[in-house]
Amino acid sequence: MNIIFLGPPGSGKGTIASKITKELKIPHISTGDLFRAAIKEENDLGLKIKSIIEAGQLVPDEVTIEVVKRRLDDEDTKEGYILDGFPRTPAQAEALSKFSNIDKVIDLNLEDSEIIKRLSGRRVCRSCGNSFHIDFVPPKQADVCDDCGGELYTRKDDQIDSIKTRLEVYYKQTEPLKKHYAQLGLLCPVDSTPAPNLVLANVIEILK
Ligand code: AP5
Repeated sequence: MNIIFLGPPGSGKGTIASKITKELKIPHISTGDLFRAAIKEENDLGLKIKSIIEAGQLVPDEVTIEVVKRRLDDEDTKEGYILDGFPRTPAQAEALSKFSNIDKVIDLNLEDSEIIKRLSGRRVCRSCGNSFHIDFVPPKQADVCDDCGGELYTRKDDQIDSIKTRLEVYYKQTEPLKKHYAQLGLLCPVDSTPAPNLVLANVIEILK
């Protein structure tokens, strides 16, 4: 099954997709994670996109489409995949439709006020990328990842100015995709307000 996770920044796409990937045994492909890995490696792509990401703007379509197209050529996507954070523009959705079929679009919905709380309290593991929240999903030991023991940090784009920019970008460029996927009969809206386990149960029900 080929699945897209749509939804504003901080709506829980990564949190839920990282659990579904284990459930369905298909890869979780997050464009944000791919870009952050490139920045960490300081390769050509990373150097080109670092300031764009930290400011909360979108990486240009042609760069993003190429990265995803290449990733979807990998052998492990043959039985399906979860795309988290792609597509985010009409041009990306159109490109994707030319190189893959989509079965379902999980659209996580959350109020802006809750998004700001979730992103400003988020802590991410430097080693494995797992996401925690100081109040809602706290690690057992402060600043230490439960899974791998790595150090937890705050993403630069989780500062309030970047969060506001990301929300503006989302409403202008990504939200229109909901209509596109609804017209194709693929959109599955999910309320992301409840606790992660309840949101996960709703998504699993939809994917059955
Ligand atoms: P990306 O990393 O994809 O950022 P995003 O879309 O803004 O999404 P987030 O990762 O911030 O949030 P999420 O929805 O995954 O929430 P999470 O599960 O972590 O992209 C980063 C940047 O890369 C973009 O800004 C852009 O520059 C670039 N980029 C990426 N894709 C691109 C594309 N296609 N085109 C162009 N540029 C692109 O949860 C958030 C917090 O809430 C966590 O602390 C978590 O523990 C907590 N939480 C989760 N669920 C719950 C719950 N149910 N209850 C309480 N707390 C919860």
